[in-house]
Amino acid sequence: MDKIDLIRQLLEQDGKNANAWYLLGLEYCELADYSQAFQAFSEALKCGNEELKDKIIVELGQLSDKSRLPAQDSRQDNDPCSKKTDPYASETEQDMISNDDSDNLIKLTLIEGNQNNVVNINYKESANVCFQDVGGLDQLKNIISMKIIKPFKNPDLFERFQKKVGGGILLFGPPGCGKTYIAKATAGECNARFISVSITDILDPYLGVSSQNVKDIFSNARAKKPCILFFDEIDTLGYNRSKLLSEHMRPIIDQLLSEIEGIDSNTEQLLVIGATNMPWDVDPALKRPGRFDKNIFVPPPDEEARVSIFKLKLKGKPTEIIDYELLAKQTELYSGADIENVVEVATENVINKILSSDCDDLISMKDLMDAIANTKPSTIEWLRTIKNYVKYANQAGLYDDVEKFILSHKKILG
Ligand SMILES: Nc1ncnc2c1ncn2[C@@H]1O[C@H](COP(=O)(O)OP(=O)(O)OP(=O)(O)O)[C@@H](O)[C@H]1O
Ligand SMILES: [Mg+2]
Repeated sequence: MDKIDLIRQLLEQDGKNANAWYLLGLEYCELADYSQAFQAFSEALKCGNEELKDKIIVELGQLSDKSRLPAQDSRQDNDPCSKKTDPYASETEQDMISNDDSDNLIKLTLIEGNQNNVVNINYKESANVCFQDVGGLDQLKNIISMKIIKPFKNPDLFERFQKKVGGGILLFGPPGCGKTYIAKATAGECNARFISVSITDILDPYLGVSSQNVKDIFSNARAKKPCILFFDEIDTLGYNRSKLLSEHMRPIIDQLLSEIEGIDSNTEQLLVIGATNMPWDVDPALKRPGRFDKNIFVPPPDEEARVSIFKLKLKGKPTEIIDYELLAKQTELYSGADIENVVEVATENVINKILSSDCDDLISMKDLMDAIANTKPSTIEWLRTIKNYVKYANQAGLYDDVEKFILSHKKILG
């Protein structure tokens, strides 16, 4: 039994094994079977394994470069059998394969996909949070309110004054600081549906199906208006366009761009929000006017915001008197998610104490301070990474807010 058979056996037992799909992709790369490799990597990406994601994207990028076949690989194209093996390729596409020798494209790049075989898209819908659930971020709330909520609620007014609305906003910042949360809350504020889409909802081994997925996502959102369409980790798409290139991804991005540009927010009540913690990887084409043309930095919460996040996260829990200002002072650069974690750790400890001693207890300042002492802010690594981009790649002023933030935290960030 060869390696591929072994991995396939593994996958029969567990089809969601990202590592196995990834290894399978590598094996097919070795064999120069790029079509199978692309399929395997796409399946790996769909498993949602965060640790592997970057590696998979790099492999997909390299695959794309290989999709313009070197001479020795063009034997695949010269093999008449290989041209007819794909059930999804239409006759015209197969003609293209045989007629377009000059380009030497592998079959995958020409497949349009079977329109009747569009995969089911399982994206999540929900919006049971509002702005009052989001601690701090007041400036961001104001921007969103002006750019999204007011036009959304008063379309006639904006139309009368010919105030242009539309385009999407792009939220960027360190992990756990509330990008997804505030996007959901925006939907809550507008009484709109919230549809969250990730690259795995879009990507399909068959090129045409991926583009069709994008179309379906938008038409589904239109059918459910008012609606906020949230593209999480939008960098994975942008990344693909610039580095991964290519014949595979460009049509998907182009479809996405034309869908966004095609939205008439006044009449359609459909808004698009993107989020990323790697803004440097977001395709510049996505940032042009009419697309994600407002880039907003979502920073770690400031002291005042941390007070309100602690209050929100401790609300309804049995506590002693809490000095929220002190907690906030001790948690500089903690993200909202980090604060949530502090509260969780303290809560767990108190429950354990109660269970082991049989005496009732409340969450005390000591429990919270102990939890803080045992945790670290998770935003530092991101802030240190972006420092270089601020220094060397801030020509367009995209990172001005980040620069201010970093300067005001020089002591910790160096
Ligand atoms: N400002 C905030 N107020 C209240 N809760 C917050 C805030 N920021 C973050 N949280 C809490 O942290 C959790 C994680 O936040 P969220 O998922 O929005 O982070 P994110 O910025 O999207 O991170 P990532 O970049 O990893 O996707 C939220 O579900 C929420 O409970
Ligand atoms: Mg998020």
